[in-house]
Amino acid sequence: MTDTKPANADQREFWSDIKGQLWVELQPRIDPMLAPFGEKAIEALDLMPGERVIEIGCGNGTTTLALAERVGAEGEVLAVDLSRPMLDKAMERGKTSGHPVRFIEADAQVYDFPRQHFDAAFSRFGVMFFDDPVAAFKNILGAVRPGGRVAYVCWADRKDNPWIRIPAGASKAYLELPPQPADDEPGQFSMQNEERVRTILSGAGWSDVTLERFDTECSLGGDVADATGFISQMGPMSEPFALADEETQRNTLRVIEEALAPYADSRGVYLGYSTWIVSATRP
Ligand SMILES: C[S@@+](CC[C@H](N)C(=O)[O-])C[C@H]1O[C@@H](n2cnc3c(N)ncnc32)[C@H](O)[C@@H]1O
Repeated sequence: MTDTKPANADQREFWSDIKGQLWVELQPRIDPMLAPFGEKAIEALDLMPGERVIEIGCGNGTTTLALAERVGAEGEVLAVDLSRPMLDKAMERGKTSGHPVRFIEADAQVYDFPRQHFDAAFSRFGVMFFDDPVAAFKNILGAVRPGGRVAYVCWADRKDNPWIRIPAGASKAYLELPPQPADDEPGQFSMQNEERVRTILSGAGWSDVTLERFDTECSLGGDVADATGFISQMGPMSEPFALADEETQRNTLRVIEEALAPYADSRGVYLGYSTWIVSATRP
């Protein structure tokens, strides 16, 4: 029997169901945490006023509005995402921002973008979930003019990201987490490997592929309880946690708190985050 599922159907469902709702609710918490990484990738893109830019996996629209600031009223921002709840939030924020931004519910891997129309493409953690990443980056390339560029931020090595590795690992004492995807399957760490990133982008036709490692420490919360409450809703344990009974939830929070306690000090709970800032040019 042939598989008739459309591209990225599982991801569409995943980001539109419990996970999408949680990202909408947690937007005021997630944004400050991810801000340094998005800012680094926007810097790498070096947008000029009047330029046209596509955003891939715009989520709640925070970076869309930052891109719009850069290109100004003469520029253009087209933001795509396949999560209905997050797009609704992004659209609501776009309306009141006064920026000329357009949001579309679409899969960036297959969406029929206007050809060679854009100067640049951008993403903050929105390009690791394609079931065919070469096809996706080829499709994005087709939308960018010759000489145009792409810049995005993605997670680097899992082992260098204790902010998620440690609480997720602890939660396994009580929750059954989704199986860790293989390195070449869609998932949070699917772009952790430098060679794989180069192979995907070159295979899709991009040139001058550059990866810059950007590592920093960030706060996961004001104290251990705060950080634990947040990460239990955001990490790979978010769905099993949301669906667990009260006792299992209590036990899970306790083991995560124990695991995070060594990282707490008077500033809050600080752990390491490690990312790649990836840039490339359309020949
Ligand atoms: C980790 S979230 C990041 C959201 C947002 N960029 C941010 O930084 O807050 C990943 C986003 O990519 C979107 N996404 C995943 N696969 C996609 C695809 N094939 N096309 C468009 N968006 C996609 C998800 O719906 C989700 O909004």
